[in-house]
Amino acid sequence: MTVTSTPSDEAFIATLHEALGDAVITREAIPERHFSDWTRHAPCRPLALVRPRTTEEVAATLRLCHEHYRAVVPQGGMTGLAGGAVPRADSIALSLERLRGVVVDRDGATVSAWAGTSLEDVQQAAERAGFRYPIDFGARGSCQIGGTLATNAGGHGVIRHGMTRQRVLGLEVVLADGRVLDLMNPMLKNNTGYDLKQCFIGAEGTLGVITRAVLALAPPAQQTHTLLCALRDYPAAVALLHRLRGAGLALEAFETMWQDFYAMSCDWHGGTPPLPAAHPLYVLCEAEGDAARLEEALETAIAEGEVLDAVLAASTAQARQLWAIREATAAFPTRLSPLNFDISLPIGEIGAFVTTATAALEARWPGVRIVNFGHIGDGNLHLTVDCHSLDADAPSVRHELEAEVYRLVGERRGSISAEHGIGLLKREFLHHSVAPEALAVMRALKATLDPHGILNPGKLLT
Ligand code: FAD
Ligand code: LAC
Ligand code: ZN
Repeated sequence: MTVTSTPSDEAFIATLHEALGDAVITREAIPERHFSDWTRHAPCRPLALVRPRTTEEVAATLRLCHEHYRAVVPQGGMTGLAGGAVPRADSIALSLERLRGVVVDRDGATVSAWAGTSLEDVQQAAERAGFRYPIDFGARGSCQIGGTLATNAGGHGVIRHGMTRQRVLGLEVVLADGRVLDLMNPMLKNNTGYDLKQCFIGAEGTLGVITRAVLALAPPAQQTHTLLCALRDYPAAVALLHRLRGAGLALEAFETMWQDFYAMSCDWHGGTPPLPAAHPLYVLCEAEGDAARLEEALETAIAEGEVLDAVLAASTAQARQLWAIREATAAFPTRLSPLNFDISLPIGEIGAFVTTATAALEARWPGVRIVNFGHIGDGNLHLTVDCHSLDADAPSVRHELEAEVYRLVGERRGSISAEHGIGLLKREFLHHSVAPEALAVMRALKATLDPHGILNPGKLLT
């Protein structure tokens, strides 16, 4: 990849070097992992990569970029699924990877984490202190806490613990012009006007750069059971959801895999699947509470014909094996040419949506391979198309596919992004889920906080 830099580019890089020394990397020295995120969309070498070690260095970088009208692309662990961290050739990639560390406050049941700390490191620090940080998903080892905040990540535990934004008590953010906004409130209660931190959570790096956060911890889980069920159909999954809730169990996860996904994942893992891959639908659920109540609810569901077969994990190792089937998504980019949708609809409508969307896509692209799975307890479906199965895996075909799925979502007043964000990939479809008045307020906020338009330009908003 050759990128030609202009004299003004060279002068700006020299200015950055002068202010930030070896925190600045340029040209061939920039590792390829900074060129694109997990989607591998439009990889591009940025003009420079800055890896600050302190909030002050983040502030110095932004101050210079603001002054010189230079685009800045914040980067976390590069596991995003919307192209949000993909740089442009004329931009400065600002990686938070060296801003790491955590401090647990046991009295307050909180953890303060620097943005570059991995999600897994935060989870482990919480566990060592006798707590739990309950945001969890497959990219835990590589994504950074700053990235999870910037995308308002969801994952498996949302059904009980909410999205990332619900865990945040305090935040430190560097604004586009380099001012540091200290919102590091550690208290559970704080009603002192506008909740400014929420503007930056889920903003995908377009309004400020998150450097630190105070996060609320949950108590450790007690008596958690992991259960994999094969079901008759989608309504049976909804009935099981009601049944388990009604049994007084606290659901920690309620993940659904349609047969297409389950069979594919079991095939990738090899060996004998925990349940035969012949059933229409599978639910992987984690429930906290009395084992007898769970077994009783399960027996009734079997007697009613909703659950066709089930396996209750007998050990932590077996529970991990069951979760590995659900977490096959980590292998998508190497095994498939994935177009991974992240849509949200009322829980009761998802089964019919899968049928309608599948029929529409199969009619237009005969032989198309679709796998369906998702966090159905939260109304979040990850319909995924393997573009290898299309005659032409071309951008125009992907675009047509996206337009069709988002049209169907828009018709039902669903959300085109439940948890991954908008980034580069869904900008032009935002109107399906966001009204013009709301879009205008978003643009006004952007203009106020980033008057020179340097923060992650072209992401989220067109
Ligand atoms: P990046 O990809 O580096 O960046 C994402 C966005 O945040 C970009 O717009 C970037 O500019 C911005 N950003 C990053 N750091 C900062 C910062 N400090 N300040 C301001 N802006 C910043 N997501 C879910 O929600 N639920 C899931 O279940 C889930 N499962 C996944 C499973 C796998 C296998 C993979 C690969 C991804 C999954 N994701 C999931 C998506 C992804 O992991 C999350 O979106 C994650 O939060 C991104 O974190 P990151 O550090 O990698 O961010
Ligand atoms: C998951 C990602 C795709 O749920 O969000 O596995
Ligand atoms: Zn997900």
